[in-house]
Amino acid sequence: MNTIKKLLCAALALLLLGAPALAEELPAFGVCIYDGTDTFMASLRLHLETYAHGKARLTVYDSRNDQNLQNDQVEGMLEAGADVLIINPVDRLAAGYLIEKARKRQTPVLFVNKEPLLEDLLLYEHAFYVGADGAQSGRLSGEILAEYFLAHPEANKNGDGTVQYVLIKGEPGHQDAELRTQNALKPLQEVGFRVEKLQEDTGMWRRQLGQEKMAGFLLAWGDQIECVIANNDEMALGAINALKGAGYFSGGRFMPVVGVDAISQAIEALRQGSLLGTVFNDGEQQAMAAVDLAILLAKGEEITADTYAYPISGERFVWIPYQRITREELTDP
Ligand code: GAL
Repeated sequence: MNTIKKLLCAALALLLLGAPALAEELPAFGVCIYDGTDTFMASLRLHLETYAHGKARLTVYDSRNDQNLQNDQVEGMLEAGADVLIINPVDRLAAGYLIEKARKRQTPVLFVNKEPLLEDLLLYEHAFYVGADGAQSGRLSGEILAEYFLAHPEANKNGDGTVQYVLIKGEPGHQDAELRTQNALKPLQEVGFRVEKLQEDTGMWRRQLGQEKMAGFLLAWGDQIECVIANNDEMALGAINALKGAGYFSGGRFMPVVGVDAISQAIEALRQGSLLGTVFNDGEQQAMAAVDLAILLAKGEEITADTYAYPISGERFVWIPYQRITREELTDP
C-alpha cells in the first residue's frame, strides 16, 4: 500500500472507529458518492445522512468522478472495518471489482443510483442495488409529451403528424441515460405520432452543458424543433435558458420541454410554465430503503417481508417507483 493509501486508511479508521463511546453500538457505514457536485446525488446524500441519524455512523466520501480515487476510498473503508458499504459508483461497470473486494472481507455492499450488472451483484450474496427503473422514468416523461401533443395539435408546427425532437442525454453508458432515451418516445408513437430525431447530444447531467447543446440545436434547426427531451432536470433547465435566449416562453412562444428528477428549481419552472413536465426521482425513499437494508445486513439479520418494508426483485434489486409531475399535478400549483 502506498503512503497516501496508508494515510487515508488511518484517517478512515479514526473516523469510523474513533466515534464517541455512545455511538459505538451503532453500525458503521462507509458511503461513496460518485460526484458531490451532482444535484440529485447531493440531495440523496443528505437524505442518507438524515435518515441514518441515530441508526448508524456514516462516513461519506466524495469520489469526485474518479473511479481510481473511489477504489482507494473503498479499500480504505474496508480496512477501517466498515460494517456495510453504500456505494454510488463512478463507473457502474467497476462494481464487480468493488464487490470482489467487499466479498473478500465479508463486508456487505449496497449500490445506489448507478446500477451494477446482475452478474456482478451475483458475485457475492451480500451485494444489492437500491434505485429506480430508468425505463419507467423515460416512459413517464414520454407520456407527458404524448398528452401534450394530443391536446395541442398546433404543437405539431408543420402539421406532418411527425414530432421533430431534440434530445439532451445524460452520461453515456449510465443506465438512466440509456433507458430514458430509449423509452421516452414510445408513448408518442403509441398514440399515433411518428417521431423524428433532429439531433441528440450529451449534456452529462449538467445545466451549463444542457444550455450549450440546446443553443447549438437552435442554431441548426430553429423553429423546426417541436419538443425537447432532457434526461434530467438540470439539462432541461439549461435548455430552457437557451430557449429563453432565443425568445421562447414570452410573447406566446412555447416549447414543450421535459426532464427527470423533480429538483426544486424544476418545480419552480413547472409553476412558471416553462418546463412542461418532470418525473420525481424519489431520493428520500431510495435513502430509506438503502439504510434499512444496510442495517439488516450489518446485524446479519434475515431479509424477509417482515423485517424489510421494500420488496427485493430479481434477487438483488430494490426498486423505488418514479412519479410523473406536471403543473396540474402539483399539489400546490
Ligand atoms: C440520475 C439522475 C441524474 C444524475 C444521475 C447521476 O438518476 O436523474 O440527475 O443525478 O443519476 O448518476
